[in-house]
Amino acid sequence: MDQPLVLGIESSCDETGVGLVRGHTLLADAVASSMEQHAPFGGVVPEIASRAHLEAIVPMIESACEKASVRLSDVDAIAVTAGPGLAGALMVGVGAAKALALGLGKPVYGVNHLAGHVAVDQLEHGALPEPCLALLVSGGHSNLLQVNDISGDIVSLGNTIDDAAGEAYDKVARLLDLPYPGGPPIDREAASGSVTIDFPRGLTSRKDLERHRFDFSFSGLKTAVARWVEARHRAGEPVPVADVCASFQEAVVDVLTRKAIDAALTHGIHDLVISGGVAANSRLRALAEERAAAAGVRLRVPKRNLCTDNGAMIAALGSEVVARGRPASALDFPADSSQPVGTVVV
Ligand code: KG4
Ligand code: ZN
Repeated sequence: MDQPLVLGIESSCDETGVGLVRGHTLLADAVASSMEQHAPFGGVVPEIASRAHLEAIVPMIESACEKASVRLSDVDAIAVTAGPGLAGALMVGVGAAKALALGLGKPVYGVNHLAGHVAVDQLEHGALPEPCLALLVSGGHSNLLQVNDISGDIVSLGNTIDDAAGEAYDKVARLLDLPYPGGPPIDREAASGSVTIDFPRGLTSRKDLERHRFDFSFSGLKTAVARWVEARHRAGEPVPVADVCASFQEAVVDVLTRKAIDAALTHGIHDLVISGGVAANSRLRALAEERAAAAGVRLRVPKRNLCTDNGAMIAALGSEVVARGRPASALDFPADSSQPVGTVVV
């Protein structure tokens, strides 16, 4: 018999995504982004995101069904991001998923956004090795997770104590007059620059490692870049943007890869998955490959459009949760803006 057809809905931040997955096969992935509407503000404006989700959700459901050549009545189960994320944005997806579940008479699973970022890798590289270590880096999160069972046993090993990695890219881009989101332009500039400035590596001193071995901090780095640029301005000297980008980027990816490999080796885990928007970074991919190979750790990084927020990741997680026989969510489950990663299905 065919594996169940799972429709996944994602609306936790600025992407409205609807994906259709059967087993580990991606049938369709429709994504609308409100990023351009946030660009003038240099970051996501929650109220704008919620309104954009409302406008995009039905067209994205229709577009996914059309791309996959399926009817809504063919869908066997619905998965939706219940959290973490922006409360108003999450509510749009959760409301749509519940309406579909009621209308179609199918089960609904309110699932964890972070687990979705890991599960999505199955669509490209097949069954997830368990346990595996996941490094999730995006505009909203920077986590190190130990994934023992993607459908229900995920342990947080580390988190950012201030800014997320992508947020640091966005803020540094802003102070260098580069466009939002800052990751892609900094990545591009860095390619033609050299690592000439020794910016600080957050939470890597011996004292910090005692309490925050697998945690991250990027706000000190951002401030260090701001101070360095200000000093140049004060001295009336031009800012070597490409070198600042290369040096900043090296400080970020050095810490990310160093801590990820340390966590894998410390916990006896041999597989590392890197996902989230920042996983698109070319230097992060290269350094992670180099350091993973040296440490004997296998590395899996999904392709760029699967790394960023989308419905496919939620459908992929839903498909796994259904396959492993997890109970569906009660129809009155809430959107939870701070849903802990240990709660994979609400
Ligand atoms: O996963 P995502 O699309 O949305 C969430 O934040 O959940 O990630 C967006 C973040 C932004 O902060 C953006 O600057 C960053 O990912 N990003 C990158 C690159 N492409 C996107 N950061 C570094 N290098 C990149 N090439
Ligand atoms: Zn995300």
